[in-house]
Amino acid sequence: MCGALRLADAGKKAVLMGWVNRRRDLGQIIFVDLRDRTGVAQVVFSAELSATVHEKAEQLRNEFVIAALGTVKKRDADTINPNIPTGEVELVVDELRILNVSKQPPFLPSDTMLANEEMRLKYRYIDLRRDAMQFNIALRHKVAIAIRDYLSSQGFFEIETPFMTRSTPEGARDYLVPSRVQPGSFYALPQSPQLFKQILMISGFDKYFQIVRCFRDEDLRADRQPEFTQIDLEMSYPQPERVWETVEGFLAAAFKAAGHEIKINFPRMDYDDAMRQYGIDKPDLRLPALTDVRDCFTSEELQTLAINQDLPVLAIRTPKVGELSRKERDDIKPLFVSKGGARVFEDFKRIENKHPEAAAKIREKVRANATFEIHQKTAGDQDDLIVLVVGSAQSSADKDAHPASKRKVTPAEMAIYASAGLLRVALAQKYADRHGIFKKTGNPAQDYRFLWVTNFPMFEYDEADKRWMAAHHPFTSPHEEDMDKLETDPAMVRALAYDVVLNGTELGSGSIRIHRQDIQSRIFHALGMTDEESKSRFGFFLEALEYGTPPHGGIALGLDRIVMILAGAESLREVIPFPKTAAAKDLMMEAPTPVADAQLRDLGIGIVTKK
Ligand code: AMO
Repeated sequence: MCGALRLADAGKKAVLMGWVNRRRDLGQIIFVDLRDRTGVAQVVFSAELSATVHEKAEQLRNEFVIAALGTVKKRDADTINPNIPTGEVELVVDELRILNVSKQPPFLPSDTMLANEEMRLKYRYIDLRRDAMQFNIALRHKVAIAIRDYLSSQGFFEIETPFMTRSTPEGARDYLVPSRVQPGSFYALPQSPQLFKQILMISGFDKYFQIVRCFRDEDLRADRQPEFTQIDLEMSYPQPERVWETVEGFLAAAFKAAGHEIKINFPRMDYDDAMRQYGIDKPDLRLPALTDVRDCFTSEELQTLAINQDLPVLAIRTPKVGELSRKERDDIKPLFVSKGGARVFEDFKRIENKHPEAAAKIREKVRANATFEIHQKTAGDQDDLIVLVVGSAQSSADKDAHPASKRKVTPAEMAIYASAGLLRVALAQKYADRHGIFKKTGNPAQDYRFLWVTNFPMFEYDEADKRWMAAHHPFTSPHEEDMDKLETDPAMVRALAYDVVLNGTELGSGSIRIHRQDIQSRIFHALGMTDEESKSRFGFFLEALEYGTPPHGGIALGLDRIVMILAGAESLREVIPFPKTAAAKDLMMEAPTPVADAQLRDLGIGIVTKK
């Protein structure tokens, strides 16, 4: 292989096959950097040695595929290339075969400037030849194998579940597959193997896993693809801690395969605390928490500043940003998304001028609030950017109005926390270059901040539909001690659900499931489903639950997301060989496409054009 040649091979005969990465023609001598999956080697065609071979080499162009037979030679001291592993040797060629020619590609794998993404996706086969993509795909392979090996060693069976299955809404949208033999009926591609893995527990395969493709017709973002891969697992009789141990075990194996020794026993945090401290259910622990600084102001000051006294006054600290210009301060406002009644004070200087005592107290309190921080604990506080998010004086704290207002964090408070939580992340991203917190340090304990978020609420209130929805999915078990509130006070019911979070990304979600038919029926009821509806949608499952279902639980993690973070990539597209665009298109294959009328007729399908 090209990348394997070493000084020890000097004197040996070798055949190298690969692509012409670069060609330098010095007249009597032609150098080619030959590339294969393992790396690059220099091959030399000398007119002095063989005029025919040299002549043939003159035809070589970028990305031609060749076989070169020759002798490995030690390079002269002044031509050694210390930057590549094969840099001490070269192959002096006796025989050259051009296995295939190539058109001039729209961009070259060796280009240092990246082509635009549309080009990269259209000519994906060339893009995948680039070192970075070869590295990412290899990383993906290593991570998947490590996870498979670990789970297998722990007694898990990998079991395949169908792709052609039944449409069962799980909060996002199904891709449908029409049935030819049952015209008018459709299969759905699985959004996850959720029900199958639960059935496998009923069937006695007490530890299941699968590295499995899932399909969701959702709006796409950098960390969402319409087809993506889950590491899906389920086990019988577990406490949540058993599931967590298993996940920590395979993540440690996966990170080790990528060269990082992570510490397990990830910290844990209640959902309510995550919301109150970070304003989000997937806190990035690399950044400081939010601080409620309401008590740093006097009542008069709050009034003067038109700040709602009944709601939190949240300070966001972004370390090491330094002084902002007027223009830079103006750039903060557009980053702010108000989740209902929340306002932003981006000009802390003004508060420092007008209310110096309050400002000093705020700085003090914000600095003291550093529970989870590692490396920014000692940051000089004058370098900190402080931005406040508050409720406006007019906004009602809607104490009793909302169905969820009895929760520890009320909807009105939640609006302030959530607005601040989003701004906290947006500010950190905007000033990432200045504060350097996202830069890898080489210490896995700092670079990879894992967290379990637990005790999610069972239900969320859907304002538009005016009804309760399952916050995770309807098969999640409520807390034993909250069962009596299912019908009377759904807002207060906690779920045995958990998320594993890494650096502000949700890696995975899972729960202990309902294993009793009567409870499952009560949950469907609480979600506003009539007996008839639940029977028609989940009848087979409700029936299965009646035949000796063991208690069970599990989780699913996004493989693409894990690899994306390990690769330091900004988008899942960098770690998926053939991804879709934000418009869910495959630019290389040009999918989706219309199909022939005959094909539609066969399926009994007619197309209606949307107005
Ligand atoms: P959930 O829907 O939270 O849970 O999905 C689990 C994990 O899958 C990944 N993921 C995605 N990755 C890329 N693109 C997407 N569109 C996408 N959607 C989800 C995320 C997410 O955390 N059946 C349950 C799991 C369970 O309860 O066991 C489920 O699918 O990393």
